[in-house]
Amino acid sequence: MNEPLNISDTTINLSTRTPILEIKNLKKSFGNKAVLNGFNLKLFEGENLVIMGKSGAGKSVMVKCLVGLMLPDSGSITVMGQDINALNRMDLDKLRTEIGFLFQGSALYDSMTVRENLEFPLRRHKHKFGNITDTEPLVLEALKSVGLENTIDLMPSELSGGMQRRVALARALILKPKIILYDEPTSGLDPITSKEIIELMRRVQQQYKTSSLIITHDVDCARVVSERMILLVDGVNYAEGTFEALKASTDKNVKAFFK
Ligand SMILES: Nc1ncnc2c1ncn2[C@@H]1O[C@H](COP(=O)(O)OP(=O)(O)OP(=O)(O)O)[C@@H](O)[C@H]1O
Ligand SMILES: [Mg+2]
Repeated sequence: MNEPLNISDTTINLSTRTPILEIKNLKKSFGNKAVLNGFNLKLFEGENLVIMGKSGAGKSVMVKCLVGLMLPDSGSITVMGQDINALNRMDLDKLRTEIGFLFQGSALYDSMTVRENLEFPLRRHKHKFGNITDTEPLVLEALKSVGLENTIDLMPSELSGGMQRRVALARALILKPKIILYDEPTSGLDPITSKEIIELMRRVQQQYKTSSLIITHDVDCARVVSERMILLVDGVNYAEGTFEALKASTDKNVKAFFK
């Protein structure tokens, strides 16, 4: 296994922090095409970690493996100390409630109201809050955290793209996860709406004390939200470091990201 280019910055000390999520030597191929080829990652408690990689590099494949939507060929994924491949269905289901996933695009259910979209994970994971019958307070709380309480009875088609993204974030937050995975949270949005979403991501992290993994190719987003970044190149974690440290690198593969 090749060691990543470690573009270090003395202002971050990782050795004292506990990883809440760890990926070791993850491999995934489609046919004879290796997409992930020994990818490693540690997400520490409370941090915002940005993963950048060009289109088709395997970022979405990696997050799908993380939430069990796709099975890796090999490698291990540990979430809050539990190896997700070693868990039975029930325990895996339970662990999934600790991971909020904001899909690429917003992926709201078109035929359901905002309320029904948010109730969906609550119904699926009833046990988490002790079989609640009145979902409204939780739905409203989640919507409030993204500033959209007044959309509760609207359909997704009645919302702007930015609002849909915020509702999708509320849906990811409703189970009060410890980890949030954002797959391209700002793609397809205009710069002003992107800024709002980025600001919201920061607020959510402070309010809910979550650890976040943010997949993006938006350099502005990475600059604002990341404490640390990993560059995914050729299926591996090619370089790791702070935004500033990576930006100052002279490595040609790293420089390509900041053009
Ligand atoms: N279910 C699948 N079957 C076959 N190939 C797939 C499948 N899912 C992804 N791939 C391939 O894996 C590669 C990585 O895809 P992925 O969606 O992870 O890219 P990405 O880094 O998220 O790109 P983008 O920035 O455009 O979202 C692509 O070549 C894609 O065609
Ligand atoms: Mg993708």
